[in-house]
Amino acid sequence: MENLSKKTAYVTGGSKGIGYGIAEKLMANGANVVITSRSQESATKAADQLNGLGHPGKCTGVEADVRDLNSQKKAVETATKEYGGLDIVVANAGVGHFTSIQEMTPEQWNEVIDINLTGTFNTIKASVDELIASKGYFFTIASLAGTNFFAGGAAYNASKFGVVGFTQAVMLDVRKQEVKCTTIMPGSVATHFNGNEPDDSDAWKIQIEDLGQLVVDLLKMPARTLPSKVEVRPAVPKS
Ligand SMILES: NC(=O)c1ccc[n+]([C@@H]2O[C@H](COP(=O)([O-])OP(=O)(O)OC[C@H]3O[C@@H](n4cnc5c(N)ncnc54)[C@H](OP(=O)(O)O)[C@@H]3O)[C@@H](O)[C@H]2O)c1
Repeated sequence: MENLSKKTAYVTGGSKGIGYGIAEKLMANGANVVITSRSQESATKAADQLNGLGHPGKCTGVEADVRDLNSQKKAVETATKEYGGLDIVVANAGVGHFTSIQEMTPEQWNEVIDINLTGTFNTIKASVDELIASKGYFFTIASLAGTNFFAGGAAYNASKFGVVGFTQAVMLDVRKQEVKCTTIMPGSVATHFNGNEPDDSDAWKIQIEDLGQLVVDLLKMPARTLPSKVEVRPAVPKS
């Protein structure tokens, strides 16, 4: 996708953090973007902020919980009706609960699996026909926790290992129809994840605009080449 001007993108969980950074870079490169949140107020606020930056692309914010397949179908419909077609989907929305198996509640387990893993399935399922029609590009935002496990990570590791496996299998399902699929596996990113408030102490981390740039760079790779799994980490770890 050499030229992103007038392309349509759907980014789940764009109200803040990585999804917001990806939406902004896509808009800066001319794409129109639909972002989502669990709340219409947050989605509208983020879309207003993004539209105020003066980028050539436009943004629409909709309430759509990734746990609900129908809400994903409606958000995809909004994107295709408002901007015409659908070319890029970023399954980004995610949460974390980090605690030992002894302390973990079934509710915490279910929330992480339902949002991170089943939510990714719902987003891709709701948009796969449109992306086959446009020969588009799917991204999923997994994590280095999708290849490195750690104590307290049972639910989060399980969800992200799942996202990596799911995305690679889907990549094999759709690549003969010329649909690209990449799972991005970031290390520490300066976001609101898990109650963090980004500040100067997060300067060593990957910044959200860096991941936005990565998505744009992957979109602009030659059509014949597909980096299907991309690990990305802070260049210098926290000292
Ligand atoms: N930050 C990191 O270091 C890091 C590293 C590797 C991977 N990741 C992954 O990156 C993704 C984005 O996280 P982030 O760091 O940007 O965190 P964040 O700043 O907390 O943003 C999370 C986004 O996901 C949305 N969201 C959460 N649950 C949702 C649901 N059920 N339906 C729709 N949207 C939902 C949130 O929207 P509302 O709260 O407005 O509903 C918000 O926009 C996640 O998948 C996370 O696992 C993060």
